[in-house]
Amino acid sequence: MLAIVFSFTSLLAAAQAVHEAPADAPSSGRVAPQGEPGQPLTVTGTVTSPDGAPIPGASLYIYQTDDEGYYGVKPVSDNRHPRLKLFLRSDPSGAWSFTTIKPGSYPKSRVPPHIHFEVSAPGREPRIFEIVFEGDSFVMPEMRQNPAFSVRPIEDGKVTERIVLR
Ligand SMILES: [Fe+2]
Repeated sequence: MLAIVFSFTSLLAAAQAVHEAPADAPSSGRVAPQGEPGQPLTVTGTVTSPDGAPIPGASLYIYQTDDEGYYGVKPVSDNRHPRLKLFLRSDPSGAWSFTTIKPGSYPKSRVPPHIHFEVSAPGREPRIFEIVFEGDSFVMPEMRQNPAFSVRPIEDGKVTERIVLR
């Protein structure tokens, strides 16, 4: 029985391989460098267990396009090698934050602007999802029910996100 549980867990981990932050990564930083064109955004949040207990030291990998929708330097857009990216570790209270710019839609697409997250912690299921923005005309109603998306408002240039790891 235990063996079955273990093999299922490793299958799950293999299917959802995530980039892991260095152990000494900071809990806050910059995704977009100073001077990057675009609307400035500050994103803050927490990583907790389902009961709300903070998870310190959780690994976060965050990446996004520039404000024209490119992952690389235009015309390159390879999401495996994004220019705007950041590794973080949640702090002792489970908190993390970063500054960035609002990403753009992929060129000539109806893909909503989004920020990718890969989040993991020992003994928990990793989460891969993207923040999309409340009020964006490309956000589809079904995205609100899909755990791969988190539809978040931008209020005074700020976005908050509560990440739960099971
Ligand atoms: Fe993307």
